[in-house]
Amino acid sequence: MKRNDPCWCGSGKKYKKCHLDFDARLAELDLNISLSQIRPTHDLIYNAREIEAIKKAAVINSGALDLIDKLIKPGLDTLSLDSAVHDYIVEHGGHPSCLGFEGFPNSICTSINNVVCHGIPSKDEILQAGDIVNVDITTDLDGYFADASRMYIVGGKTTPEAERLVKITREIMEEGIRAVKPWHFVGDVGAACGAMAHANGYSVVTILGGHGVGREFHTAPFVSHDCAANTGMLLVPGMVITVEPMINAGVKDVVTDEDDKWTVRTADGSLSAQWEKTVLITENGTEVLAS
Ligand code: MF3
Ligand code: CO
Ligand code: CO
Repeated sequence: MKRNDPCWCGSGKKYKKCHLDFDARLAELDLNISLSQIRPTHDLIYNAREIEAIKKAAVINSGALDLIDKLIKPGLDTLSLDSAVHDYIVEHGGHPSCLGFEGFPNSICTSINNVVCHGIPSKDEILQAGDIVNVDITTDLDGYFADASRMYIVGGKTTPEAERLVKITREIMEEGIRAVKPWHFVGDVGAACGAMAHANGYSVVTILGGHGVGREFHTAPFVSHDCAANTGMLLVPGMVITVEPMINAGVKDVVTDEDDKWTVRTADGSLSAQWEKTVLITENGTEVLAS
């Protein structure tokens, strides 16, 4: 690419006025292969117009989660939450990305108590007072994706153990987001989340994790929530990732349901919690795009 060519990021600016210095900095970095340090590719970097598009998807996605805030209550089946969200997203011009994703049958994931993630909504699944539930929603609007999830305590009251898990898991996610820094490595997220989880006596699911998001539902990098600092992909301004720790009260091992091929449960039946936000890496830090 020549200095006066339009920049590869699609901003419409000349390369020399846009990502030329950025590319030089990226190329000069001496990565440590033994730490599996990876240079990000250009397709993982979003320009201002694309970031606005992700934000628009995020507004709908947050609206859908706000709807869950209002609807969720003991006695309700999870399929009615699913159809309410489906209709809300479609009425706002978006598409619920989970629906049909690798054959997933519904628009949201509802993961209750010992279910870690990817729980399938059902009319036979009735929310009980004291259940802890993760509702995970992804929206795509005009080809751009936003992904977030929240935990709910059904009926507002549960055991002290479950309440603590929900609260600490949220703090672990926030700690993970604080570890996201431009020109630092994605492994810093896992180092921060892992340290905080272990200090609180919890385990961290590592066979599943966060991801890049934006042009597609899931892109590189994989975001581990328990790993060594200074490893994995370099995070640079314009990248968008999710931070979504799955935290277990017992062992970290999980089992996927053999019949539905989706529902992931803790291997020991212990409680699990998860919160998720979509985060943009900026020049100076981060901006939460979806929560
Ligand atoms: N939203 C989940 C995530 O955070 C992915 C759900 S995939 C589905 O990455 F197919 F189960 F919906
Ligand atoms: Co999600
Ligand atoms: Co996600």
